[in-house]
Amino acid sequence: MTNFDQHCLTLRAALFASLGLAATACESSGPRGASTASAGFRVRTGPAQCDSARSYTPCAGTEADLRCRTDADCNERPVGMCASRAAVPAATMRAAEPAACDCIYGCSVDADCGPGELCVCGPDLGSSASACVPASCSSGSDCASGVCGLSIYDDGCRTTRRIACKTSDDECNSDDDCKPNERKKPTKCVFVEEEKKGQKARWACRAAECQVGRPLLLDGVVHAAPAARRCDWLAAEIDGTAPELSNDERALVKEHWLRAGALEHASIASFARFSLQLLAMGAPADLVRETQAAMGDEIEHAKTCYAIARLYGAEASGPSTLPAATAPISSDARQIAAALVAEGCIGEALAAAEAAILADRCEVPEVARALRRIAEDEQRHAALAYRALAWMASAHGAIVDEVVEDILAAQAWGPAPREDGPGATGPARHGVFGDAEARALKARAVSLAIRPALAAAVSRAEAAS
Ligand SMILES: [Fe+2]
Ligand SMILES: [Fe+2]
Repeated sequence: MTNFDQHCLTLRAALFASLGLAATACESSGPRGASTASAGFRVRTGPAQCDSARSYTPCAGTEADLRCRTDADCNERPVGMCASRAAVPAATMRAAEPAACDCIYGCSVDADCGPGELCVCGPDLGSSASACVPASCSSGSDCASGVCGLSIYDDGCRTTRRIACKTSDDECNSDDDCKPNERKKPTKCVFVEEEKKGQKARWACRAAECQVGRPLLLDGVVHAAPAARRCDWLAAEIDGTAPELSNDERALVKEHWLRAGALEHASIASFARFSLQLLAMGAPADLVRETQAAMGDEIEHAKTCYAIARLYGAEASGPSTLPAATAPISSDARQIAAALVAEGCIGEALAAAEAAILADRCEVPEVARALRRIAEDEQRHAALAYRALAWMASAHGAIVDEVVEDILAAQAWGPAPREDGPGATGPARHGVFGDAEARALKARAVSLAIRPALAAAVSRAEAAS
């Protein structure tokens, strides 16, 4: 077992413990799926008949991580497959991750899927296997616009699939309508759920915005303050000599830590908003206190990141303004639960996993020390999120159940690493992964720790209701 798997399993144990459960059972869950295409916008034209529902590599039984051995072990749905896969290709990692066997559930026809789902064939999903996808239309005749589309949104951490009608409220008709966002990230036309009260679910342009750490999400967009020259957001303990590295690497590392500082600063606002929501819902004192304490941790994380950026040659920097911090705060239980899952249960857990493995690989002692402390804090924050979710389930079991089921049903194992993409690898010895490495590691954390813990949270919600 690799160090990263060990970190993920430690994280999983902590998340299960926060739910009052022992992380002994190996959960098996996999992607489900969807249908067809036109220029940058896939259109559902009718019932699926997937010939290749079972196109996958069967488990050999010699894989290092065996969560199933034969298809008979995968019996939660009609088309269960025990698939073998290399968890993380060696090409994107410094060492290959072990192969694993896990259940995936495909489909041949719509009848193989659950209520509110339709079968989509593998080629339409860019996958070797078909899958069941949550759907609010089955063909264009169900839609006033005459168009029923398949949305596949890879946000950088996970892939969400939906089949939904095009409407007159949409922001885009196809990817051609979507321009790069303010951070110059390319965007795609995808279906987004109701993001704030009174706003309808619709098709909109979205980028792969998933970041390490608890994001401040408004309208599905990550918000963070631009950097400003200042000295009051620099941790005093990071004050060494700049490590030796090339100019290109130095620029990359410096920018990474400035961005990390801005995201940690935004995490303070995320926790501040959540503490008000906890108060509004009448939460227990320990959840409110721990949320306040977590805000303090995020202040220290932000100061640490800005100080590390300075270590690598950035001007003394800190955050400028963050207007999104005072945006209207929702009191709707479903929106609070959805934000808690996205920002806390997923965002914090991913941050803990990534910081832990980077701390192992980092060769600059003070940066490695900082990463280790951040990893410990983020794991505690993730556990707090799962405890808060469990508490919410005691009063809103059906809503929590639906929110988590929705996420588990709609998301695949995680994004495939892009071996040929720019910035595939990064200088991990300075605490920075490349895009492909980060995505591969996130996929592993989702598979090993986050999906099982969310599934356990649903079970607990069902038991409580
Ligand atoms: Fe943090
Ligand atoms: Fe955090």
